[in-house]
Amino acid sequence: MRINFNLNGTDVEISALPNERLSHVLRKEFALSSIKLSCFDGQSGVSNILMNDKVVSASLIPVFKAEGKNIISLEHFKSTEDYKIISTAFDQAGVKTCGYCDAGKYFAAYSILNSSMETLHLDMEKSVRRILSGTMCRCSSLDDLISAVEKMMKHRRK
Ligand code: FES
Repeated sequence: MRINFNLNGTDVEISALPNERLSHVLRKEFALSSIKLSCFDGQSGVSNILMNDKVVSASLIPVFKAEGKNIISLEHFKSTEDYKIISTAFDQAGVKTCGYCDAGKYFAAYSILNSSMETLHLDMEKSVRRILSGTMCRCSSLDDLISAVEKMMKHRRK
């Protein structure tokens, strides 16, 4: 079937079986190496993308559901102001990123960045646990992640 969507700011059309995993198709057709093929149950976070500005696991989405959507991968997200805010906060707090886990960590952080300030201040630990649940990585301490979230929220867009 033919499927049309916007990928990283460009309209694209592909031919694929409707139930192919979106993660496979994005890697195969567009060489998007930030999307990793790992657990296939959405828990590792390594295939995360933004679909219509929501964080989703591309491994869990059949490609036909991409029709008409706006999809952003980490490759494109790296050119955004939000990426700079998150990256700076990760660096300052000593949060590790290795390339393998980046899509999970950055997009989990992005969803926090867009949460309401009230929600975050009410429950910072819950926010940080959202980062942890979006990635299998355990290379950074809970304290480092809390510090990164605090720094990130100070610099987020108004
Ligand atoms: S820093 Fe990537 S898996 Fe831990």
